[in-house]
Amino acid sequence: MTHAVPSVRPEAADAPASGIVEVFNYGRGRPGLIPLWTGEGDMPTPAFIADAASRALAGGETFYTWQRGIPDLRQAISDYMTRLYDKPLGPDRFFATIGGMHAIQIAVRIACGTGDEVLIPSPAWPNFIGAAVAVGAKPVEVPLVLTSDAGNGRWTLDVDGLAAAVTPRTRAIMVNSPANPTGWTATREELVAILDLARKHGLWIIADEIYGRFVFDGSARAPSFHDVMEDEDRIFFVQTFSKNWAMTGWRVGWLECHPSLGDTVENLIQYSSSGVAAFLQRGAIAALEQGESFVQGQIARAKRGREIVCEGLAATGRVRFPVPEGAFYLFFSVDGEDDTRALAMRLIDEANVGLAPGTAFGHGAERYLRLCFQRRAEDLQEAVRRLAGVLTRS
Ligand SMILES: Cc1ncc(COP(=O)(O)O)c(C=O)c1O
Repeated sequence: MTHAVPSVRPEAADAPASGIVEVFNYGRGRPGLIPLWTGEGDMPTPAFIADAASRALAGGETFYTWQRGIPDLRQAISDYMTRLYDKPLGPDRFFATIGGMHAIQIAVRIACGTGDEVLIPSPAWPNFIGAAVAVGAKPVEVPLVLTSDAGNGRWTLDVDGLAAAVTPRTRAIMVNSPANPTGWTATREELVAILDLARKHGLWIIADEIYGRFVFDGSARAPSFHDVMEDEDRIFFVQTFSKNWAMTGWRVGWLECHPSLGDTVENLIQYSSSGVAAFLQRGAIAALEQGESFVQGQIARAKRGREIVCEGLAATGRVRFPVPEGAFYLFFSVDGEDDTRALAMRLIDEANVGLAPGTAFGHGAERYLRLCFQRRAEDLQEAVRRLAGVLTRS
């Protein structure tokens, strides 16, 4: 036998490596390192959620379950979403998934295939590109525009640039707002412009609104496609329990779409995960039904975190960023530092702080670093002190 390794389809072989993982591997396990490189906070899942899952596990909810999610969870999601978006959103719109990532994967599979193009405003979370490549589609990055890199600057969507990127092969637009890593939070006008474009060309919108509650202007949530869409629009919504309820390791989220797609989604769940463990879904119900004050605490934590890192890094005089409008990341550049991969390594060695290099987030992101500020104030104050120490002496 001469084959050293089995042959691999291009869709799998071309799936890009995550640029965050390289830095993570470099710094992993260092004593005292403050990890601000991944998209999660430091809070463990609250006990009322974990207890509900434990009770269901002990109570024998260990069998194969509904592909679409247990009816109680779909009802709880429907109640939560109806409250949040102030319009009736019935349980037949919602499908439990293995985290938000699985919801993205199912949406992409339904919308696109080999040779199709997917528009992605970028800098963007790398998994959008990865999910497109994995189904054989071509990600087309459309640069967001930064009005100024001073504190009063904003990331904005270049609506004309997005329209110009549409070709006969375009099938979908991925819209992540509030965005990881930039904090770009689409205005209602931007959402309307995207929707108009999608309607004109018959495109799908894959709306990742998982950070929708993390906004800092006092409003209850970010503008959403729910505010501007008609029932028959082609929109998938990606959601997750990971961030609001501190459940990143649970791998539970949901996909929302028009109920007419129910059988298709059910089949794709059957042939991928075959459903989310029922006992985990019981924890998710507790999160939705009893978790509102916890979510408020998470938002307050992010708000305080944002103040600490923005004030502390601005004081170095070397760091530039627009103040993020949403999500929980600071995306900043450092004067005179163009190689942020090398800089991220150096900050591990010299500051013992883990940040994600911009190289992980696509074209136009190379000069930036991403810092997750969803963490206790003391850690962030210490991280900023250490970062400032290194950045002001080099
Ligand atoms: C924009 C965005 N969408 C989706 C996800 C995935 O969430 P989950 O952990 O539920 O798969 C993340 C995680 O960082 C994210 O930043």
